[in-house]
Amino acid sequence: MDTHPLLHLYSSAAQKAQPSTIRDLCALVARPEIRSLAGGWPDPEVFPGAELSAIFETLMRERRREMFQYGSTEGVLELRQLIAEQLMDTTNLFSPDNLLITQGSAQGMSLACQVFLDPGDIVLVGLPTYFGGSGAVAARGGECLGVPLDGQGLDTLALDKKVVALKSRGRKVKGVYTIPTFQNPAGVSLSLERRQHLLELAAEHDLVIFEDDPYRDLRYEGEDLPSLLALDHESRVIHLRSLSKIFSPGMRLGWAAGHPGAIRKMAVAKQFADVTSTTPSQYMLLEFIKQGLLRERIETNRDFYRQKRNFMLEQLEKNFPQEVSWNRPRGGFFIFVHLPETWDAADLLREAVDRKVAFVTGQPFFVDGGGQNTLRLSFSQAGREEIEAAVKALGALTRDRLAAGF
Ligand SMILES: Cc1ncc(COP(=O)(O)O)c(C=O)c1O
Repeated sequence: MDTHPLLHLYSSAAQKAQPSTIRDLCALVARPEIRSLAGGWPDPEVFPGAELSAIFETLMRERRREMFQYGSTEGVLELRQLIAEQLMDTTNLFSPDNLLITQGSAQGMSLACQVFLDPGDIVLVGLPTYFGGSGAVAARGGECLGVPLDGQGLDTLALDKKVVALKSRGRKVKGVYTIPTFQNPAGVSLSLERRQHLLELAAEHDLVIFEDDPYRDLRYEGEDLPSLLALDHESRVIHLRSLSKIFSPGMRLGWAAGHPGAIRKMAVAKQFADVTSTTPSQYMLLEFIKQGLLRERIETNRDFYRQKRNFMLEQLEKNFPQEVSWNRPRGGFFIFVHLPETWDAADLLREAVDRKVAFVTGQPFFVDGGGQNTLRLSFSQAGREEIEAAVKALGALTRDRLAAGF
């Protein structure tokens, strides 16, 4: 409980803000005896150690003056140029003015919300959706309302109906927050048809789209889908990317891409937040890309995480009863599990912890408070032994519950 004597002076958004369940879980997961499939962190096994040591040494010799200095708020120009040339799936509008280097895509979303949202504005999100995104909306005093997801991602017909229904009650929707590729937590991707439909709806209802795309480089099968940004002809998309899953989350790097007007406003907001993204991280990444190492690393990561995904899917197949269902993600870090309708995953988690296993319940990802019978499993950080033991224990637990008549 917060006992600060100035609690009454907190902003109303801060008074409402709650730590996420995942943060609370971190303490639990840190216990060495717990086998955790909870966190969606990358595996340190694929952090680029040796290459970065060599790069750091060279930078210390050759670019020390710039590397430890303040940099421009927009980010190192050469880095923005390389990102625009090599890491975007569109040449539509690309110049460095369309890009802002951010401290992770989390900061990109926070800045985008500062530029586009006023208190009370409505943003539609998937049911379920990553609570970092909905949390950034709430931190601006905005309101997130849910739209169902299915195997093709966000249900755009339902989204249309929701916007129309809200309009008929005198409420205007401002935007949509979506993770179109290998969504966190559901693992699904928005189909091409729905991407096009979403953009049509954005034009019809005058919406901004916050496209959070941190997993797009981690595809294990199938063809790449164009980003919403690449399909956008009306500058409605703010495209947010992250280096956390393919380079290093500790470097805190990502970028926002979109119309130079909005990007400039985001840079102004960033100036008052942290002045500039960490300069040593930016120079290290710049060198990493220049030497062709990021491309290689993305390939390595894809193979590495594909094997982990396959292994977890095999283990689920082997251990879980047929009353429990899950999806087969084609990329990203997450498998989303549906328990029998009447179960509460929070009860299962308590029992799982007794058996020294942790996962994340699905409910915190549902802005409408639903999803009690769902949970998210992550295969990104756990080793094979941990995945095998944890899935086995969860399988046994679900079977025991079924046998006990739950
Ligand atoms: C959908 C989504 N967006 C944003 C983030 C945060 O990424 P970053 O480290 O780039 O801030 C995550 C991290 O798990 C995520 O899953």
